Amino acid sequence: MPRSRISLILTPKPGAQFTNMKLLQHLFDNNKLWAQSIESSHPGFFRKLSEQQTPEYLWIGCSDSRVPANEIVGLLPGDVFVHRNVGNVVVHSDLNCLSVLQYAIEILKVKHVIVCGHYGCGGIKAAMSNEKHGLIDNWLRNIKDIYKLNEKKINALESEKQKVDRLCELNVIQQVKSVIHTTIVQDAWDRGQPLAVHGWIYSIADGLLRDLGVCVTAKDQIDQIYRTDS
Ligand code: CO
Repeated sequence: MPRSRISLILTPKPGAQFTNMKLLQHLFDNNKLWAQSIESSHPGFFRKLSEQQTPEYLWIGCSDSRVPANEIVGLLPGDVFVHRNVGNVVVHSDLNCLSVLQYAIEILKVKHVIVCGHYGCGGIKAAMSNEKHGLIDNWLRNIKDIYKLNEKKINALESEKQKVDRLCELNVIQQVKSVIHTTIVQDAWDRGQPLAVHGWIYSIADGLLRDLGVCVTAKDQIDQIYRTDS
């Protein structure tokens, strides 16, 4: 990169920040209205919230812009601790996800971990294709493994949409397993800490959630090989 271009990037002209802010002024306007409306319906809301957070739920969902955690379940700031990534994947070497899980369970003492996928997930679609997407293909590999394990069941379905949606469900079920296989969750149960791990799926087409019926609440529900001795 030519030297002149580097200096242009590193030293913005005076007032450049304000110019940028103006470009997104509507978001600041929205924010002011949003804060005012919450404050008028719940006086003192932000002051109380600034002192502590006591969420009961950890939400592990997809980054998709159409699946915002709080809004879907009608909860306010402070009610849900949130981790989102492409395809709502829980990987045992992902320090980001594990740190969120540990903090939520050990410090915040959430009572529920909700893994929530959504139908028509772009991450799932991409994982089912052979198209090259770059770096993200390494992440999607985790989903490809779930496809491979369930290939016959998925391919028995008629339409492409059904296949994608089934893998969306199977992915949630697998990620619930990944959550309960962690030492973090198993240690919590060993301590006698009440904790339920749920698998849900959301439909962007009608805005409704569906429980996949894979709720796990105790260590004896974990497959033997993944259990750690207490
Ligand atoms: Co998605």
